[in-house]
Amino acid sequence: MGKLVIVASGKGGTGKTTFSSQVGTILSTMGHMTVLVDADAGFRNLDIALGLESNVVYDYSDYITKNADIDEVLIKSPGYENLYFVAAPQSAATTDFDPGRTEQFWNTLKSRFEYVIADAPAGMGDGFRFAADYADEAVIVSLAESTSLRDADRVIEAFEDNGIEDIRLVLNRIRPELIGKKVLMNIDDCIDVLSIPILGIVPDDSAVAECAAAGCAISPSETGAARAFFNIAQRMAGENVPMMDFDTSKKSIWSRVRKTFKKSQ
Ligand SMILES: Nc1ncnc2c1ncn2[C@@H]1O[C@H](COP(=O)(O)OP(=O)(O)O)[C@@H](O)[C@H]1O
Ligand SMILES: [Mg+2]
Repeated sequence: MGKLVIVASGKGGTGKTTFSSQVGTILSTMGHMTVLVDADAGFRNLDIALGLESNVVYDYSDYITKNADIDEVLIKSPGYENLYFVAAPQSAATTDFDPGRTEQFWNTLKSRFEYVIADAPAGMGDGFRFAADYADEAVIVSLAESTSLRDADRVIEAFEDNGIEDIRLVLNRIRPELIGKKVLMNIDDCIDVLSIPILGIVPDDSAVAECAAAGCAISPSETGAARAFFNIAQRMAGENVPMMDFDTSKKSIWSRVRKTFKKSQ
């Protein structure tokens, strides 16, 4: 049985869809059967990030309303052997789904895939609940800004209320020079504010936008964000990969990673 990992944030535009498409694709290339579910009804764009927009016929609402079976809503990636995708409905109007059938949807995916990754909408509305109420693990993607972190904290509370114990943080679009100028918060302070283990730190990298524009799932670059996403996929698969060294807080980040690792053993 696989696990449902929800990728969430308080604020919008923190990089959830980027994270989901990159890390999901990398996990599939590592040999893990992976399905990416666009849970952002109404504002769906994971299909575009994966270059699959013209392959979408059915979406998850078709399965839940019994208009399509699971093989009809699952879209196989033409480029990646172990990667599948399920689209979100174009309208967010019907998110009041039958809970039994919703649970069946997630369980069917978990019976077929090792990683079921749900790209959630920002905040805690119905679309968020669609995945959050069934999630096994959560990844919070935040920027290193107090507004983004404060909103992330509320989402963490919602996960804790749902009994999700494995909640990990990804700090995205880090620019060391802006940490130096105190425009962005330093990484240790971000971790202190949220008090959850860190899964990864991703630099701000123009290759991300170039890759998205070119419709490629994984950036061909070996450095920057591409390297960070690769490291994150390895950590999700249980490997102990050191954090990227961004600034002088390297030592204390390490001590936290060790603490997290010990805790998970
Ligand atoms: N690490 C990064 N470096 C540079 N740009 C990024 C990075 N992560 C995300 N972006 C850009 O930020 C914007 C929002 O990202 P997206 O993944 O759509 O966020 P969300 O799904 O949380 O709304 C996109 O234009 C994306 O290309
Ligand atoms: Mg998104």
